[in-house]
Amino acid sequence: MEQEGVHQALYDIEEWVTSVKDKWINAKDLLLKHIREDEVNEWERDLGEIQTRVDLLKNNRSDQDTENLIVELKDVHEQCKILHDEYSQLSEKFSRTGDSELDFETETTKHKNHEIDDERLDFKKSKHTWSPPKDSVKPGKHKLPPLPYSYDALEPTISEEIMKLHHDIHHKSYVDGLNKAELKMENARKTGNFDLIRHWEREAAFNGAGHYLHTIFWDVMSPNGGGKPKGDLLNQIKYDFGSYNTFKKHFTEAAKNVEGPGWAILVWSPRSHRLAILQAEKHQNLSQWDVVPLLVLDVWEHAYYLQYKTDKDKYVDNWWDVVNWDYVAKRFKEAEKLQWKPY
Ligand SMILES: [Fe+2]
Repeated sequence: MEQEGVHQALYDIEEWVTSVKDKWINAKDLLLKHIREDEVNEWERDLGEIQTRVDLLKNNRSDQDTENLIVELKDVHEQCKILHDEYSQLSEKFSRTGDSELDFETETTKHKNHEIDDERLDFKKSKHTWSPPKDSVKPGKHKLPPLPYSYDALEPTISEEIMKLHHDIHHKSYVDGLNKAELKMENARKTGNFDLIRHWEREAAFNGAGHYLHTIFWDVMSPNGGGKPKGDLLNQIKYDFGSYNTFKKHFTEAAKNVEGPGWAILVWSPRSHRLAILQAEKHQNLSQWDVVPLLVLDVWEHAYYLQYKTDKDKYVDNWWDVVNWDYVAKRFKEAEKLQWKPY
């Protein structure tokens, strides 16, 4: 990436911010007639913050190396996009009031393509009217996903009886528990009575974590599993842990040493741009929220006790024979796209 391209990108963003600021002077008065003052002010504050960041970048650009500058620029650009989307929402609310004067949409979305990242820096692409995601799960509407194979498919590593109980009873109870908690909280929002909110938030965390982790767990196993990961995932594992065997040892020990019920989890950290291994006691404790689980191993007793009794270690050792590395790699490929500004 050339210095020149970076400066051009900076110039473009600055131009965008200046033009939005100019239009805002008129827009603000119109908006204030119909929309809550704090919403309007919050938007203006965000615009001011972007302006400050752009000024800082402009003043310090010669001191920064190009790579840092690009990261910072992309971040500012993301913030501009969010602001633009928020503006679309404000103006949509406004247009519902019947007034149609408010239109700096076309102007504000003008933006040139340039070298940093055409996708991210193309404001035209970000121009849209917000609509809710078509496939979002409404409160209380979570469903038990079907097992991706038959109950006996993972034998002899995991018995049919365990899979039936684990999936049909345990996972189902997390789905039911999460749905119940969400409906209770929806009701609290309707009635304004939040007396039991702590309880239902806990229930939602416990059952929600259980539901989401089990949903991944079924897919990270396969009757054709085992072996070693391949491709980029293997390279990343080697880079972060030294070798596949070191990684496997670390993950195995983490699983065997979870205190009480819980999980061992391989995660991609969008913040540190690397893989890490975590333990989750129960489902929701000791976890990190800014991460994406890739490979998860259930070490609750219900996952192995019928078959392995107290020999959790044997269950963990055998479990590697059913790991579905292709699925883990698929999750990794999507997850690695998430890269926040590192701290
Ligand atoms: Fe489980």
